[in-house]
Amino acid sequence: MCEKPSVPDLEAMPVSELFKKFKRLRLFEPSVGVLGFVFVTVLVICCFFYLDYRAVPKGLLFPGESERFMWLQIKGSGKDNRVEFLEEKGDGCDVFVGDWVWDDSYPLYQSKDCRFLDQGFRCSENGRPDLFYTHWRWQPKDCNLPRFDARLMLEKLRNKRLVFVGDSIGRNQWESLLCMLSSAVVNKDSIYEVNGSPITKHKGFLVFKFADYNCTLEYYRSPFLVLQSRPPPGAAQEVGTTLKLDEMDWNSVKWKDADVLVLNTGHWWNYEKTIRGGCYFQEGAEVKMDMKVEHAYQKSMETVIHWIHNELNSSKTQVFFRTYAPVHFRGGDWRNGGNCHLETLPELGSSLVPSDIWAQIKVANAVLSVHSNTSDIMKFQVLNVTHMTARRKDGHASLYYLGPDTGPAPIHRQDCSHWCLPGVPDAWNELLYAVFLKHEATRSWNSSQSQAQV
Ligand SMILES: *[C@@H]1O[C@H](CO)[C@@H](O)[C@H](O)[C@H]1NC(C)=O
Ligand SMILES: *[C@@H]1O[C@H](CO)[C@@H](O)[C@H](O)[C@H]1NC(C)=O
Ligand SMILES: *[C@@H]1O[C@H](CO)[C@@H](O)[C@H](O)[C@H]1NC(C)=O
Ligand SMILES: *[C@@H]1O[C@H](CO)[C@@H](O)[C@H](O)[C@H]1NC(C)=O
Ligand SMILES: *[C@@H]1O[C@H](CO)[C@@H](O)[C@H](O)[C@H]1NC(C)=O
Repeated sequence: MCEKPSVPDLEAMPVSELFKKFKRLRLFEPSVGVLGFVFVTVLVICCFFYLDYRAVPKGLLFPGESERFMWLQIKGSGKDNRVEFLEEKGDGCDVFVGDWVWDDSYPLYQSKDCRFLDQGFRCSENGRPDLFYTHWRWQPKDCNLPRFDARLMLEKLRNKRLVFVGDSIGRNQWESLLCMLSSAVVNKDSIYEVNGSPITKHKGFLVFKFADYNCTLEYYRSPFLVLQSRPPPGAAQEVGTTLKLDEMDWNSVKWKDADVLVLNTGHWWNYEKTIRGGCYFQEGAEVKMDMKVEHAYQKSMETVIHWIHNELNSSKTQVFFRTYAPVHFRGGDWRNGGNCHLETLPELGSSLVPSDIWAQIKVANAVLSVHSNTSDIMKFQVLNVTHMTARRKDGHASLYYLGPDTGPAPIHRQDCSHWCLPGVPDAWNELLYAVFLKHEATRSWNSSQSQAQV
C-alpha cells in the first residue's frame, strides 16, 4: 500500500524521518533563555489582548494584508452593515473571503467535554499552554454567517447520513463536527459508533449515530479517493502498488447514497507518499512509470468530479469538496525539522505557505473551478478553505499531540499538518453549516414553489 504503517498517528508527516535527520534542531531545544523569552512574549500578548478586546466588545478585526493595522483601531460604528448570508441578499456573498476576528464567545465547545476526539487533537489537554487559537472566528468580508446552532443542524439531518471522506485532515474536520453537534445532546450515550469501534482506530471507517435524530455522521478513510490496488501482471519490479487514476475507491459504494458528502484529498499527493514508496500510477491496464504526481493528482480529481456527475443523485446528495488545508512547517518541511510550535497568532500579512504547495493547490483549483461553473453549479460546492486556513499557522498540534501523560513531543517531531480542536476545523464546519442551510432553504423554497404551481 502507499502507506507507512509505522506512523499511524501522523499520516501527513512520517515522523521517523524527522528523527533521523535533524540533530541540528537541538538548537531549538528550549533553553532557559528561550523559555524566558517565550514567557515574556506571551505575557505581553496577553495584556495586549486583554486590554484591547475589552475596548472592542464586538470583536476586533484581524486584518488581511492591506489593512494591516486596522485592528489597532476601535471599530467606531460598532454596528456592521453586512447582509446575512442566509437571507436572499446574501446570495452572492463569497463566504471564503474575509478575516479572522477575535471573539470571546468562542470556542464552541471544550475538548474535555467531547468524548469523540482523538488524543492527537486535544492540544490543551496535552499541555499546549496558550488558548488564543481557540478564540478566532471567521468573518466573511461581505456578509455575516449564522451562529452555529447544533440543534438546528441535527434537526436538518434527521434521518440522514452526513459522510466525510478523505485523509486524516478530513478526519480532523469530522471529529470537530462530532464535538460541535454533540454539544447539543444531553445524553451523550445516545451517540455511539454503530459497530462499537473505538475512535482511536485510524483505518477504515467509523459511523456515529445520533439516536435521538436517527442520523449518522460517518468518516471513511480514503486519502486518494481513487482506488489503490495491486499492480497488474507484468508490471516492473519496483511497482509495489498502484493508484488507479480512473477508478474510484471501492468504498465509494458506501458514500454514494449519503445525504451530505464532504470530500477532501491532497495531503498524500506527493512524491514521498507515492512513488518513493513504490506506489505508481495506473490508467486502464497500464502503469504509467513516468507520470508526475501533479499530473496524477489532476487525473484523479477529474475522476472524482466525473463520479459526482454521473454516479450521484444530485436531488438526494449534497456534495462538498473541501480544498487543501495548508501545512505550516517553518524552517524546513516535515522531513527536515520544520516547526510551528511557537506560533500563537494568525498570520498578519501574506501567508508563509511554500510555493510548491501552492503549485499543488493550483492543480485542484483548476479542476474544481472549471466544474463548479454555470450549469454544473448545483452538482457540488467547493468549501474553499485554503486561503483562510493558510493564515492559521497558530492552529496546529505542534508538540501537543501525545496525551497528558506523555507530555509534549520532542522539538524535532512536530505536527504542523493536523489541527488542534477546538480550532480551525470548527470554522470550516461553520461554513459547511451555512452553505448547507442555504442549500436546504433554497430546496424547500423551490419545492413549495413547484407545489404552488400545481
Ligand atoms: C433512519 O434513517 C435511515 C436513513 O439514514 C432511514 O432509512 C430510516 O427509515 C430511518 N428510520 C426511521 C425510524 O425513521
Ligand atoms: C434521486 O433522489 C430523489 C430524492 O431522494 C428521489 O426522489 C429520486 O427517485 C432519485 N432518483 C434516482 C434516479 O434514484
Ligand atoms: C478559492 O479562493 C481563491 C481566493 O479567493 C480563488 O483564487 C480560487 O479560485 C478559489 N477556488 C475555487 C475552487 O473556487
Ligand atoms: C465557465 O463557463 C463559461 C460559459 O460556458 C465559459 O466561457 C468559461 O470559460 C467557464 N469558466 C471556466 C473557469 O471554465
Ligand atoms: C431552485 O430553483 C432555481 C430556479 O429554478 C434553480 O436554479 C436552483 O438550482 C434550484 N435549487 C435547488 C436546490 O434545487
